[in-house]
Amino acid sequence: MVILDGKALSAKIKEEVRVEVSQLVEEKQITPGLAVVLVGSDPASATYVNSKHKSCEAAGIYSEVHTKDESTTQEELLSLIDEMNNNPKLDGILVQLPLPKHIDTTTVLEAINPLKDVDGFHPYNVGRMVSNLDSFLPATPFGVMRMFEEYGIELSGKNVVVIGSSDIVGKPMASLLINAKATVTVCNSRTKDLKAHTKEADIVIIAVGVPHLLKANMIKDGAVVIDVGINRLDTGKLTGDADFEDCKDKCSFITPVPGGVGPMTIGMLLKNTLKAAKLRDK
Ligand code: GUN
Repeated sequence: MVILDGKALSAKIKEEVRVEVSQLVEEKQITPGLAVVLVGSDPASATYVNSKHKSCEAAGIYSEVHTKDESTTQEELLSLIDEMNNNPKLDGILVQLPLPKHIDTTTVLEAINPLKDVDGFHPYNVGRMVSNLDSFLPATPFGVMRMFEEYGIELSGKNVVVIGSSDIVGKPMASLLINAKATVTVCNSRTKDLKAHTKEADIVIIAVGVPHLLKANMIKDGAVVIDVGINRLDTGKLTGDADFEDCKDKCSFITPVPGGVGPMTIGMLLKNTLKAAKLRDK
């Protein structure tokens, strides 16, 4: 069994980005810039935003964080996005989700210039991704694809079960896998017999936010398990959607939580910001 080391791979990606950023600065006098918008005070979101900011700085990417009150109106948010769309220092704009209930997420995401949409959530980029055209890919599924590549995990012709059908993970993950010629099944909370699907899977990707849902008796021998879940238990400990201790000896590859998929996402965000900067004025 091999543990997929997202922490080490993420460090490698961040270093790749840092080198490319310094070349872009030197050769074209372009410093990539990212704006992150946080509305409200959800502690988990604040932690993610803070690490995005720190990772940008370490990679030589200019970064600004806009922290807005929970009571911010949709109009105020749209007006901030409009300013950022027109700010030549900014190549990427990321609005941390979830947004407060009084704000319509789709309206906000659609207001971002698709060429600055480093999250890949704008319908323009979603459509291009589904059509297998060049686009910004959502960081989490993009990070999972990079893990497969890095560890030589073949996708073509494989049965892959994705558990969870969110816009941020499950749906884009399924699209990327389809484009890689995998046979893809997407399960959700209404799925009648989850185990019947996972038992047949060469690869299981789980992103549902239910601690330890995936057990060893649900997977086949030699399965690859990719755990996107990050759940905080009452003890304060972080744990995944898969029961790692139960599953690990049955797997060929498995991601740990923490230290698996989680660290990959920021690396991929930096990659997307660099890509946006390279496309400046093109
Ligand atoms: N909330 C959870 N994951 C993400 C993400 O990838 N991007 C944004 N903007 N918000 C998130």
